[in-house]
Amino acid sequence: MKTADKTNFQWTHKHLLGLKDLSAQEIEFILDTAKGFEQISTRSIKKAPPLRGKVVVNLFFEDSTRTRTSFSLAANRLSADVVEFTMKTSSVSKGETLLDTARNLEAMGIDIVVIRHNAGGAPKLLSRSISACVVNAGDGYNEHPTQALLDCYTIRKQLGTLKGKKIAIVGDIAHSRVARSNIWAMTKLGAEVTLVGPPTLMPSAVDKLPVKISYSLDDIIGELDAINMLRIQFERMANNPFPSVREYSHYFGLTVDRMKKARPDMLVMHPGPINRGLEMESEVADGPNSVILDQVTNGIAVRMAVLYLVSQANQIVGQVKS
Ligand code: NCD
Repeated sequence: MKTADKTNFQWTHKHLLGLKDLSAQEIEFILDTAKGFEQISTRSIKKAPPLRGKVVVNLFFEDSTRTRTSFSLAANRLSADVVEFTMKTSSVSKGETLLDTARNLEAMGIDIVVIRHNAGGAPKLLSRSISACVVNAGDGYNEHPTQALLDCYTIRKQLGTLKGKKIAIVGDIAHSRVARSNIWAMTKLGAEVTLVGPPTLMPSAVDKLPVKISYSLDDIIGELDAINMLRIQFERMANNPFPSVREYSHYFGLTVDRMKKARPDMLVMHPGPINRGLEMESEVADGPNSVILDQVTNGIAVRMAVLYLVSQANQIVGQVKS
């Protein structure tokens, strides 16, 4: 894998819809750009001018705490004007379609739309219909690219590289856009990824993904460099995927007891929000191996990089591809 050559590399995507179609070099380039932005957040005046005069709209059709706040802070730190738009306070609740909403916002002169939507593919549809840049903040079960980028950034910062690292993604893979974006990004960067969970929470066509599968966390925990524990997304399920919460925890929960089998330096990760006591015990979430709050901190630098790069690409007339 080539690392991004900062002198010759030119970012050309005016949208960030997912990581599946990005190259390792492009992903590395975003992470390198984020590194440059990281120190802005440690200054007493947390502002830099690259997006001055630009308007970023946070268009969230699903609930969010971390991701929305993180995008807002990232845009603010780059001096953009930020408009917050949620389903409950918008005309969407009166029946306006996604495209009508977006076209109306665009008529007001916006530059970047950050969209979260419960339908996979909504950001792509939007990117074909408006001229502003589109950044995917999570679409259905499909992708959540900035979450995976911040996960990779956190691992790279802690371990130096993802190349050759053994990483497990554990739990509700079937309903997780975080898992999908993680799989694309981590494997492109050279990690060996294993999906772990009960068969009922594995996605269909799992054999077509570039990953290993395990149904026993105890079998593999001792080899891992990092473990990413996913939330059980009950809101996306019609039926219970396991007999009881207690049974799930017993086999797949990251408990203090199970941590004794892990390498002492294994990184413990979670995209949030955590169901404490279900996928992870509080002592582990708040323990010495946890980098969960580092993920949140790193998310701002990563989102600054993404907003900056898409906006730059939009200005390269004639060279733009999406
Ligand atoms: C994730 C999401 O919304 O997909 N959370 C997040 O963005 N931090 C995962 C989840 O909700 O469990």
